[in-house]
Amino acid sequence: MKKLLYQFDTDDLPSVFDNVVGFDGGADHVSAYGGVNAANVGGLVEGAIFTRGLKDKKNTAIFIGGGNMTEGEAVLAAVRKKFFAKFRVSVMFDCNGSNTTASAAVAWLAHGRSLAGKRAVILGGSGPVGQRAAVLLAREGTVVAVTGRKREVVQAACDSIRTRFGTVVEAIEAPTNVERGAAIEGAHIVLATGAAGITLLDEKQWRDNGTLELIADANASPPAGIEGVGQSDRGAAKHGKIIFGSLGFGALKLALHRACIARLFEQNDLLLDTEEIYALAKTMVA
Ligand SMILES: NC(=O)c1ccc[n+]([C@@H]2O[C@H](COP(=O)([O-])OP(=O)(O)OC[C@H]3O[C@@H](n4cnc5c(N)ncnc54)[C@H](OP(=O)(O)O)[C@@H]3O)[C@@H](O)[C@H]2O)c1
Repeated sequence: MKKLLYQFDTDDLPSVFDNVVGFDGGADHVSAYGGVNAANVGGLVEGAIFTRGLKDKKNTAIFIGGGNMTEGEAVLAAVRKKFFAKFRVSVMFDCNGSNTTASAAVAWLAHGRSLAGKRAVILGGSGPVGQRAAVLLAREGTVVAVTGRKREVVQAACDSIRTRFGTVVEAIEAPTNVERGAAIEGAHIVLATGAAGITLLDEKQWRDNGTLELIADANASPPAGIEGVGQSDRGAAKHGKIIFGSLGFGALKLALHRACIARLFEQNDLLLDTEEIYALAKTMVA
């Protein structure tokens, strides 16, 4: 029985990255659909749940991706609404790598140390990765703030986090590197999750920060999201801080993503979202 993965992407062009990792995670075939939304996903789900007998249903699974977290969450809700009784398949939710990337970053930041009571600031955190990282850092006991260029955008992201997880995150409007430098005053942890290739902080803005202990940068496309962070840094020491670069924790992100895909095919009723993916990351870190 072939393992079939149905990749439902809210973007018009489905992610190649997610497609490749689908195969590498163990699917025999990955069918990628773009432009998927809550209104049109129903028929696709019916095709997945009505085609195989109960003992074979675990060989069909769904992956939900795309750049818009709100649309992705609506697709997930619509998919789950179609399930009933034993007519269901396993689902992984990872819009723009949000859960796997945030889980890998936070698992490394929390590895071998307690983050409880610390202040964490996520730069450029209104996107999918930043939103999920905010939740996970809060779950580790930190007080979290997220910066964005416009108050209404970053506040909307924080409101959405509160609605989904009940987690309160502070929104900070910080459109320039100078304002982001001010936003990290008093912080112990800084994580950059801004768009690819955008530098959100200069090295001089974090170098002499006396409270800062941990820095991580998710941006893998040069230049760095935080100047002075090396892509491959994994626990490197610099200016008295511990540094993680995008590839430094990206190896865990990839391994985690593949492991999640493999798990989908073990049973027909699994949901892999933030909590489940982070729990797995904690067992894989190091
Ligand atoms: N290391 C890994 O394994 C890995 C895996 C997946 C993704 N990533 C990286 O993780 C990062 C976050 O991914 P994502 O999908 O959440 O990012 P995203 O949605 O593309 O962007 C995140 C935020 O960046 C801000 N932004 C956009 N353009 C900007 C600009 N010109 N100047 C300043 N801020 C800007 C926006 O916030 P505001 O509009 O609120 O300012 C946006 O919400 C990306 O760099 C991505 O490439 C890394």
